[in-house]
Amino acid sequence: MNWRKVCAVSDIDDKSMKSMTIDGIDVLVIRSGDAVNVIPPACPHMLTALAEGIFDGCVLTCTKHLWQWNIEDGAPMGQAEAPLLKYETRQEAGEVYVNVEKELSYEYDC
Ligand code: FES
Repeated sequence: MNWRKVCAVSDIDDKSMKSMTIDGIDVLVIRSGDAVNVIPPACPHMLTALAEGIFDGCVLTCTKHLWQWNIEDGAPMGQAEAPLLKYETRQEAGEVYVNVEKELSYEYDC
């Protein structure tokens, strides 16, 4: 395990996203209430930055081709054909930690 501190939960506005670099790994940090998810920054479809997408507090939408995911479990919704990868996270005393032992990334056809 390679746990690294990300930030305090309160450092990120509810229902919002923040791009960060943890141990040299680019990630997208997404807060929904008390839950904070950490995912690779690129869309599973193509290399579009998900930080430019829309997050309503439950569903993340990539605006390029409108793939969508449930942020709670990363499951694809609608026309999305692949799930989101998610880093393992935990919280202690209001601080968020992420396991960046291995960088998560998608395989693209082109
Ligand atoms: S690049 Fe994100 S849905 Fe196509």
